[in-house]
Amino acid sequence: MHIQSVTHAVNVRLGDDGNSVVILDQTLLPRRTEYLTLTDAETMWEAIYSLRVRGAPAIGIFAAYSMAVLAKQIEVPDYEDFCKEYFRLSDYLNSSRPTAVNLSCMLRRMENIVRAHKDSSRAALLAALEAEAKAIHAEDMAMCLKISEYGLSLLKDGDGIITHCNAGPLATSRYGTAQGPFYLAKERGVDIHVFVDETRPLLQGARLTSYELTKAGVPCTLICDNMASLVMKQGKVQAVFFGCDRIARNGDVANKIGSSGLAVLAHYYGIPVYSLGPSTTIDFACPTGDDIPIEERKPEEIKELFYAEPMALPEVQCYNPAFDVTDHSLLAGIVTERGIARPPFDESFRKLFPKEMGE
Ligand code: MRU
Repeated sequence: MHIQSVTHAVNVRLGDDGNSVVILDQTLLPRRTEYLTLTDAETMWEAIYSLRVRGAPAIGIFAAYSMAVLAKQIEVPDYEDFCKEYFRLSDYLNSSRPTAVNLSCMLRRMENIVRAHKDSSRAALLAALEAEAKAIHAEDMAMCLKISEYGLSLLKDGDGIITHCNAGPLATSRYGTAQGPFYLAKERGVDIHVFVDETRPLLQGARLTSYELTKAGVPCTLICDNMASLVMKQGKVQAVFFGCDRIARNGDVANKIGSSGLAVLAHYYGIPVYSLGPSTTIDFACPTGDDIPIEERKPEEIKELFYAEPMALPEVQCYNPAFDVTDHSLLAGIVTERGIARPPFDESFRKLFPKEMGE
């Protein structure tokens, strides 16, 4: 398979008629490639909640397209009434998942378009919403490519890298963030090997990352999450790359549950850990990781989802947090489209993002 069929795969797009959003249903991968055409708010909410569309940037892009579509269904002549319904729907989509800041960030961008078109015609407002959603998507493509380039600059021939969850093209748009450097390495003949954590409990590593890397011809090996320590001890790993769902001002990074454990192990073995993500994932209003809301999901995902029969008794209690926070002290760098932020992160963020940091 040609590498571009992976790096340029379409996971989210506006329907051809402009009245729907089309997504690749990620819950069915790797065995089935099926697209869904979504037109109503409840199905859109469910698509985010159930991880049919997932990954911080992808849910932001999806939410923007969704609002552009839903706005067309609001048929009230009065601008105030339009706003009331628009903001209700926007809040509703925002309630689907709490941790990835891209969701609320992109919904806010779309809301600002509504506010800025108070005196415009309905047609102009709807056109502006669609244009904004397309701009959000295009910006993410450009950011992912830059992040991938910066990430590649950290790698050299012979390196082994552990990655966690999925931060490839499926989770973003084109190349991805944490996995983007691996595709560039493949394109440019840099000889690397990727160890892919399966990523319990929803198996984004096994189902999505190992699928994408294998299809693109990137050498990779799937491991269970609890094998990382051994692989590190054996000297097979020179770096850890993972994505991010929300980065606090001090450099604490929320990402898929298990990322923090991986970083603690890497610290013990002296292996550098990098989180890669677009600046849209930095929450400049969030002081530290303690302020990041952590999504908690159903126990069935642990006990039942990927088993032919439940593997624990129904009465067994489960705790299923979807994310954890990696302390900034464990990170060698945060790779963004503006460059690589190094510790101390508040200082490097001020240099890379002076306006956003209020300089
Ligand atoms: O629950 P998910 O699958 O949406 O979690 C995704 C992650 O944790 C990714 O690492 C993160 O969103 C970065 S995607 C570029």
